[in-house]
Amino acid sequence: MRPISRRSALTLGGLGVLGVATGAFGLSRHGTTSSSLTPRRGAALTEPEVLRSEGGVLDVRLRAARATHEIVGRKATTLGYNGGIPGPTLRLRPGDRLRVELVNDLGEPTNLHVHGLHVSPEGNGDNMFVTVEPGTSFSYDYRLPADHPPGVYWYHPHHHGMVADQLFGGLYGAIIVEDPDPVPVTRERVLVVSDITLDGSGEIVGPSHMERMMGREGDLVMVNGQVGATLAARPGERERWRVVNACTSRFLSLRLDGQKVEVLGMDSGRFTAPPALEDVLLAPGNRADLIVTARKGRSTLEARPYDRGGMMGGMMGGTRSESDGSIRLAGFEVGGPAGGDLPNLPAAAAPRDLRKAAVARRRRLTFGMGMMGGGGMSFTIDGKEFDGDRIDQRVEAGTVEEWTIANDSPMDHPFHLHVWPMQLVDRGGDPVSAPTWLDVVNVPARSEVTVRVAFDDFSGRTVYHCHILDHEDQGMMGVVLAE
Ligand code: C2O
Ligand code: CU
Ligand code: CU
Repeated sequence: MRPISRRSALTLGGLGVLGVATGAFGLSRHGTTSSSLTPRRGAALTEPEVLRSEGGVLDVRLRAARATHEIVGRKATTLGYNGGIPGPTLRLRPGDRLRVELVNDLGEPTNLHVHGLHVSPEGNGDNMFVTVEPGTSFSYDYRLPADHPPGVYWYHPHHHGMVADQLFGGLYGAIIVEDPDPVPVTRERVLVVSDITLDGSGEIVGPSHMERMMGREGDLVMVNGQVGATLAARPGERERWRVVNACTSRFLSLRLDGQKVEVLGMDSGRFTAPPALEDVLLAPGNRADLIVTARKGRSTLEARPYDRGGMMGGMMGGTRSESDGSIRLAGFEVGGPAGGDLPNLPAAAAPRDLRKAAVARRRRLTFGMGMMGGGGMSFTIDGKEFDGDRIDQRVEAGTVEEWTIANDSPMDHPFHLHVWPMQLVDRGGDPVSAPTWLDVVNVPARSEVTVRVAFDDFSGRTVYHCHILDHEDQGMMGVVLAE
């Protein structure tokens, strides 16, 4: 059987006509596929199961195991939490307690990370140093502070050396922390975007040596495990889309032409003046909280090409990002009698601003890529590969620090810090004036960014790393201890 390429998948998904007309398909490493299949409308987008906290607690059992999943009408053998791609959506409120029993039936070690949540990194909390051996389980217990920021978060494995493989295989799910005052919308949707590569028998294709260095990008880009699905709405309806970039390495520069889109926030941060969607780049790990006011017509949610650089300035042949054409993620069809008529969106509260805070300490961290013998590369921070037994940064809990993240290499590296969100203060010499809070900050090739971090509430040991997970697995990670 022929492998499922992005091209054939999109044709099957019903968006092929558009793609052929604009010639905008990306590469398919598996060669050309027949386009004689009759295009049809994509299936309706499905959403993962929703598990909601009750009385301040959510108890969840997540079983990580191999799973069979239908992708573009064919059987695929993937990984999954509770058999799904993505795993269930966990909905919490500030102040809640989340207990997860992680059952490892993968046949290899794993663990769990709650990306972006502001919770303790110690003990049974968001502890990166826990290993859950195959055939065993572990009980995580996360306590969200009462003032935890509402927003879109997610969970995924974090066992060093296996993170990219396990994510690429299908292990991820969304977490929503509800707004204390609800935002009036007609409906909410969770859109978990991820990519995968499958061979002709529906098995996951691992990365080549070069792809591992570059950061693998899958041939198929899925939303909630579906390729080319369709969303439907009525004119005037207001939807809230919680978009998670769960791709291992792929950047998403989203657009939705023909619709009114307001970017309410990114990660745990909210914008007071929403930027245009085209100005928002989701690096791997980032999330966007979008308000879409439906306008009659057919639109396409697309990811525009983004050049995230290459190895050795592109000298190592064909190793630049594969995102060289727009990718259709989902169709959005708006028709029928008008709906909506909702109260206005509440004004956003002024975000915290650390620019006037007293800075206890300034640090500089440098991402680097170097040649090693045998054509390999090293992926380092401050010249060092990850060592879980070493403390790279000791910070005083309760203080504000300013970190400049420099990138010496010809590729972008998205910088992610666990537990504490970062306020972006300077991007490549351009001061950022509107308070912008992120937990993944892209550091473009040969550039630097400066952030401020309030090491509030928690002490303990955790990590920061490049969220191109192949880079993280190859050593681009460090340890921070707040004490
Ligand atoms: Cu989303 Cu340390 O990870
Ligand atoms: Cu994280
Ligand atoms: Cu990187």
